[in-house]
Amino acid sequence: MEIQENTGFAPWGDPEAKPLIRFQNVTKRFGTFTAIDNLTLDIYAREFFALLGPSGCGKTTIMRMLAGFEDPSEGEIFLDGENIAGVPPNRRPVNMMFQSYALFPHLSVWDNIAFGLRRSEMARDKTRIAARVEEMLKLTRLEKFARRKPHQISGGQRQRVALARSLAKAPRLLLLDEPLGALDKKLRQETQFELMDIQERTGTTFVIVTHDQEEAMTVASRVAVMDHGKIVQVDTPATIYEAPNSVYVADFIGEINIFKGHASPPRDGFCEIAFAEGLAPIRARAPEEMQGEAEVSFAIRPEKVLIGPERPPELPEGRANAYRGKVIDIAYLGNISTYHVELAGGQKVKVQAANTRRIQRRTITWEQEVWISFTDTAGVVLTR
Ligand SMILES: Nc1ncnc2c1ncn2[C@@H]1O[C@H](COP(=O)(O)OP(=O)(O)OP(=O)(O)O)[C@@H](O)[C@H]1O
Ligand SMILES: [Mg+2]
Repeated sequence: MEIQENTGFAPWGDPEAKPLIRFQNVTKRFGTFTAIDNLTLDIYAREFFALLGPSGCGKTTIMRMLAGFEDPSEGEIFLDGENIAGVPPNRRPVNMMFQSYALFPHLSVWDNIAFGLRRSEMARDKTRIAARVEEMLKLTRLEKFARRKPHQISGGQRQRVALARSLAKAPRLLLLDEPLGALDKKLRQETQFELMDIQERTGTTFVIVTHDQEEAMTVASRVAVMDHGKIVQVDTPATIYEAPNSVYVADFIGEINIFKGHASPPRDGFCEIAFAEGLAPIRARAPEEMQGEAEVSFAIRPEKVLIGPERPPELPEGRANAYRGKVIDIAYLGNISTYHVELAGGQKVKVQAANTRRIQRRTITWEQEVWISFTDTAGVVLTR
């Protein structure tokens, strides 16, 4: 798969914006194994940037190269336009927060936060260190816990100490490798909002690695989806979700139905996709790169499909795709329900509907004959 060309892309549409970080054709090999494959990527100041991808795709390797723990085998990394090759980790305005936090167990919260400052050019200036620690305690709402040791506070509080400590020296770039991995789901969600708030207030550029795609979508202004050492797509969370550029990205982020078929040449921006297995053709918007007929995949999110006992009359005639099917499974999740619908040709479609009315979940039942439908702009046609 090709790397998406994203150099020069300013996230807020400012053509003058200069990247804080630029990876220029960076390759990283470990022996004969290529961990990062010709990576070109810009990250801008004040961005909250997320790296997302399966285990082993190279996320930590990218961070370690930024922090200076690894050198690229080929290519250059620029910080503010300066090549940072050979600049040791402690001379980079970059800090890396590891998943295990590595707090010093014998030191208080206060001393943990002060630790790096006492080894910096601030070392002799006790008043300045104290002021900075107090500022960090306030930022992370830890004032009350300053005198406690790490084992006397909760996991979420420890996570905030680690964050306070990594922000104390005011790095320009903070690298967060699975920072919330140790927290349970509820605390994790709360902490995501705290992270966003702290990032905004300090104006520090954050690069976060996470296995959790929802987390990446929540916190990040832009997300890079990786596959085997390459970035497949870099975009805002909404674009990644609504307009994935490949089956890989579509499938990686969220739930999705994917059908392989044969698309007719586009006419007025739309095509008809025919399927081998008895599924009636789907009319959908043709992607720009599609010139003639093509083997494609049609992808549609479960929540973009409507379900009902009858063919929905509200869909505009000629723009609708509607199919008969039978409900074979229902998962009630409280706020939404997921319906597994089997179509006449045997294809299975996942449909999600919000349970806005109390009676909703009783209106469609197991084994019921239903109609599913979607407009011609509800899904995406993918050529790769
Ligand atoms: N020092 C090393 N020597 C040899 N191979 C390495 C080294 N560091 C990383 N690798 C390999 O490079 C690949 C990328 O590793 P990396 O740690 O960047 O993955 P990751 O995306 O962070 O994965 P995870 O989500 O599991 O943390 C892996 O296949 C890994 O085994
Ligand atoms: Mg990793």
